[in-house]
Amino acid sequence: MSDKITFTIDGVEVKAAKGQTILQAADEAGIYIPRLCNMSGLIPYGSCRVCTVIVNGRPQSACTQPAAEGMIVENETEELLTHRKNIVDMLFVEGNHYCMSCEKSGNCELQALAYRFGIAAPKYPYMFPNRSVDATHPDIFIDRNRCILCARCVRASRDLDGKGVFEFVGRGPNKSIAVNANARLKDTNLDITDKAVDVCPVGAIIKKRVGFAVPIGQRKYDTKPIGSEIEAQNK
Ligand code: SF4
Ligand code: FES
Repeated sequence: MSDKITFTIDGVEVKAAKGQTILQAADEAGIYIPRLCNMSGLIPYGSCRVCTVIVNGRPQSACTQPAAEGMIVENETEELLTHRKNIVDMLFVEGNHYCMSCEKSGNCELQALAYRFGIAAPKYPYMFPNRSVDATHPDIFIDRNRCILCARCVRASRDLDGKGVFEFVGRGPNKSIAVNANARLKDTNLDITDKAVDVCPVGAIIKKRVGFAVPIGQRKYDTKPIGSEIEAQNK
């Protein structure tokens, strides 16, 4: 008996190993399910809901839901595209994302999703939050105005670097990313080589002195839409 699970995504048969999530199995099958908080190598967190798919008629987050035999998954539907666009739209106006002046432009997953979904202009009014920037560390700065609370840095620092430099404080609209020593980055043991420094999907955690080393127009998502590296796998 095969120890593989068989299910479908938009009518395409997909195989999964036991314990794999829908998103992991989809990636291996070359099917892109959009995501923001999820990142390969990090424990799934399930917070952004961009990866929402319909499983046997009910919404589930693909990054946390294990694949099961015979499940019917819908991914590319008009309804799910609208849902995903709405999340991205809300994230853009909830923070201060000025792509034209951001070092992450072209490598930013939020910006890349907006392009992939065909978002050209904000749909909701800007909230213009005034959050703190911490540039005290010699090699790294954090701009909380761009943070989308994905917890990648929290998970990477805790689980990959074994440090726990980042954590969340506050609730609701006051929730923000904090560091573990007197709220200043320079007082932490964060190092430029830490995994946590490389996982931010947006321009909230940035390395100093490497700005624009790769020119705008030649960056990862300037040349290919986000997700195309997964879709190219099985072609
Ligand atoms: S700083 Fe970046 S990685 Fe950390 S929670 Fe905010 S957006 Fe996510
Ligand atoms: S990628 Fe699944 S909830 Fe964020």
